[in-house]
Amino acid sequence: MEYRQDIINLTVNYVKETLADAEGGHDWWHIYRVWQQARKLAASEKVDMMVVELGALLHDIADSKFNGGDEEIGPAKAVAFMQHQGLPADVIQHVENIVRYISFKGGHNENGFYSLELGVVQDADRLDAIGAIGIARAFNYGGFKNRAIYDPNISPVMSRSKEDYKHNTAPTINHFYEKLLLLRDRMNTETGKRLAEQRHQFMEQYLQQFYAEWEGMSGDES
Ligand code: ADP
Ligand code: NI
Repeated sequence: MEYRQDIINLTVNYVKETLADAEGGHDWWHIYRVWQQARKLAASEKVDMMVVELGALLHDIADSKFNGGDEEIGPAKAVAFMQHQGLPADVIQHVENIVRYISFKGGHNENGFYSLELGVVQDADRLDAIGAIGIARAFNYGGFKNRAIYDPNISPVMSRSKEDYKHNTAPTINHFYEKLLLLRDRMNTETGKRLAEQRHQFMEQYLQQFYAEWEGMSGDES
């Protein structure tokens, strides 16, 4: 569809208001970064920019993590907002699919839906979960959940179940091995892959430094 700056502006206002009290890693600034990154990635792809921008802006409008695990509130809120703006039905359907499938763990076709627009927004969201900002978001979320940052008695690379996370027994460092270090190999676009590589290397370097500092302490205090 043709680009509608007025609708994008109204969407920005709606998202800012809705996320006013959100946790620091899922607040308006996360949405802002994903939106801007998605616009950049979209410049090298043949996509409907309205779908990309609406998808980026609405993708975390009601994250199930903060809504009792309900996966339907986000898509429903996004659809209601878009209907109110009088957007065409096919655009509403496409953006709803982006909101619904962006954070599914599987690859392209395992979800039953894939489009380049979803690929672009998903890459932008994943880029915000890695690198320096990704590290900040992970520890902020861990703090929000009152998790340890690291526990030398709990292996960070041991495969841990979802239940461990639910019960808050996994330190935040474990999240790097469960998810953050896996994202580089799950990027959809060429630009996304390139940006992810650099951020991935930064995280590897960060973890090396983290353990080196931690080891430096052992023997000093005990
Ligand atoms: P998405 O929004 O792509 O579905 P998530 O909501 O799982 O992904 O993650 C959003 C942000 O919250 C990421 O920066 C991620 O690192 C962080 N996060 C999610 N789960 C955890 C966790 N168990 N420990 C630390 N950070 C987490
Ligand atoms: Ni997100």
